[in-house]
Amino acid sequence: MESLNEHVQELDAELAKIITAVASLTDRIHSELPHRRGMAGTKNVFGEDQKALDVWTNDVIVEALMKTAVVKTIISEELGQPLENPDGNGTYTVTLDPLDGSSNIESNNLFGTIVGVHKEKETLTTGKNQVCAFYNLYGPITTLVYATKKTGVNEFVKHRKGSTDYFLGRENMKLPDKGKLMGLGGAPKDWAPQYKKFVDFAMAQGLKVRYGGAFVGDFNQILYYGGIFSYPSLVGKPQGKLRLVIEANPMSYIVEKAGGACSNEKGSVLEVKPTDPNQRTPIHLGNKDLIKKLEECFR
Ligand code: AHG
Ligand code: MN
Ligand code: MN
Repeated sequence: MESLNEHVQELDAELAKIITAVASLTDRIHSELPHRRGMAGTKNVFGEDQKALDVWTNDVIVEALMKTAVVKTIISEELGQPLENPDGNGTYTVTLDPLDGSSNIESNNLFGTIVGVHKEKETLTTGKNQVCAFYNLYGPITTLVYATKKTGVNEFVKHRKGSTDYFLGRENMKLPDKGKLMGLGGAPKDWAPQYKKFVDFAMAQGLKVRYGGAFVGDFNQILYYGGIFSYPSLVGKPQGKLRLVIEANPMSYIVEKAGGACSNEKGSVLEVKPTDPNQRTPIHLGNKDLIKKLEECFR
């Protein structure tokens, strides 16, 4: 069985360093989970109370990425502003949600890490300029899913017996033709009438509602079973909740490499030029036919 370290050899060596730098932290992060379930006592730039694990995973991952000497800038949910590599070297910009789904920590539900990578001159660039996106998912087992144009979408499973490397689970993953699930973010009382119209359509199509409260987990099940994940615009919050740069762009890059589509209700999320590293966006990801129907409902 091919290991992650072997699989990334076909990538640009510097890009491979970024993926393996984060992957090599898995055991350290996994062992920390039971011991850091409280609050940090600080707030992030979104005014959200930071969990101790948010801050700790951020610091551990940022340190490892800077040590690769190939990362020029890091945009992290927990840093507020882009962080330049103090040594002034590196060519890649890395976007980071160090701990996605932090509200799931206390309840022992799924959460993970989301990473986007680009090598444009400007720090803020459209999501279509990414060269790689990947995520760790901490569930009953730990997996890492990464996508590049060349390799498509590949899932690796962290082994616990014998070698503790990541080994290839599923290669060149594609969404099933017919979607089965829909993950519906936000409170239904705040949904726009256009979104309610789409939800009625999807329910009439027989899609089942599955929502776990962590983007990584709710996206991963769409990758397996097809359907749609939404964190829509909300009445009073037209930009919804999820962040364009550190959450929506990496996952939109992956869903497109898996044959799916993304939308901010008007068009592809990957075409939006960010003006602020922390800006939010409505985000819908999944089968192309469902995304097309969603955008029709918002026309
Ligand atoms: P984060 O923990 O990085 O702030 O992300 C949480 C996000 C995302 O993972 C999930 O889809 C969404 O927040 C859940 O929001 P609700 O709690 O409003 O359902
Ligand atoms: Mn998140
Ligand atoms: Mn987070």
